[in-house]
Amino acid sequence: MPNTASSSQRLGQISAHLDNSKMSVFQNVPQAPADVIFSLTAGYKADTHPQKINVGVGAFRTDELKPYVLPVVKKADAILFNDPNLDHEYLPIAGTPSYTQAASKLILGENSPAIQQGRVGGVQTISGTGANHTGAAFLSQYYTKSRKVYISKPTWANHRAIFGGVGFQVEEYPYWDPETRGLNYQGMLQCMRDAPNGSIFLIHACAHNPTGVDPTPEQWKGIAEVMKAKDHFPFFDCAYQGFASGDLDRDAWAVRYFVDQGFELFVAQSFAKNFGLYGERAGNLTVVSKSPADKQRVLSQLEKLQRAEISNPPAYGSRIVDIVLNDPALYAEWKENLQYMSNRIITMRKALYERLVALGTPGTWNHITDQIGMFSFTGLKAPQVKVLKEKYHIYMTDNGRVSMAGLSTRNIDYFAKAIDDVVRNVAV
Ligand code: LMR
Repeated sequence: MPNTASSSQRLGQISAHLDNSKMSVFQNVPQAPADVIFSLTAGYKADTHPQKINVGVGAFRTDELKPYVLPVVKKADAILFNDPNLDHEYLPIAGTPSYTQAASKLILGENSPAIQQGRVGGVQTISGTGANHTGAAFLSQYYTKSRKVYISKPTWANHRAIFGGVGFQVEEYPYWDPETRGLNYQGMLQCMRDAPNGSIFLIHACAHNPTGVDPTPEQWKGIAEVMKAKDHFPFFDCAYQGFASGDLDRDAWAVRYFVDQGFELFVAQSFAKNFGLYGERAGNLTVVSKSPADKQRVLSQLEKLQRAEISNPPAYGSRIVDIVLNDPALYAEWKENLQYMSNRIITMRKALYERLVALGTPGTWNHITDQIGMFSFTGLKAPQVKVLKEKYHIYMTDNGRVSMAGLSTRNIDYFAKAIDDVVRNVAV
């Protein structure tokens, strides 16, 4: 029978059924705080000031401050669009094999002995966050040596949420030294020595988020040595391969070194930044185990977890990556696109440094050019960040992290002068 009641009549009927003497089943749900990174984007979008700047979220922008669709992605898109066999069937639960294999090869290297020995596998995930989460969920069930996960201090806020969310006790290892504005190498090593044997360490493979500070190869060797002696499990997060230095192999150096040292490990890979596929959620969890049989059992459990959480991964972004990674000409072109992005960031680092020096801004600023990747950890403090937002309409996280991609030849002077003002005039 058609519902002929007007909407106000229906509202009245429904209200009559609401028993206000009983509390809502959601009565005790607390309000969650806004996300520290994405709330900045929302604030920036709502701001009408003509000189507003968003250096909050880590997303690449062109010098015109526009999102960048990589030319190679456009080509792969055209291939997909014209493929008469393309359909919208489900992908396998663990993802497309050619994609996960190419992703593992990308991080571990073309001639990786671990791959040749058949002890490497992968699961396609919802970008890097999904890879972190799937790996964390697996470890929370099957890793028995420790219930402790160590993340860097400062951290990318999501790491704590992801590992805490699956029941791990999350601790922090020192990473940033405010005095040198560089790596607190000794503090990090000491924490690794003091941690219970077999702890899980979440390590950024390159372009550390939020600091932009990476260990040198010599320091990586020292880190691997301590981790081996303590039987710690390395969980690498690799969100910037190729984007950090412009060189895919260089950015993968630490992971490959650990594999060469005989570690079993996980690598969470994201193709958000290096392919500009942010919203398409293309990621991969690479598993390096001791033997093909270990790998097989681990993959079977990862697949089971994945089935329960997302059933099977989204197709579009991974298809783009799959096409590019498996076509030598497109792969070569991708490397050029990566160089363009990393060079633009390096140029902006230099430009900011030069302006701050020219303005005589108190303090030292060489850390801006020493740091690598999407972010610079400026050393600015929360009260200064607040004034930057209120007076200058510049949006950045409270910890003073700047996404260098939000700077361009169009806004760099305004930005540098604003920094100069808050450094001189805002007490911290
Ligand atoms: C960032 O740190 O800004 C990006 O990785 C976006 C995110 O997911 O937090």
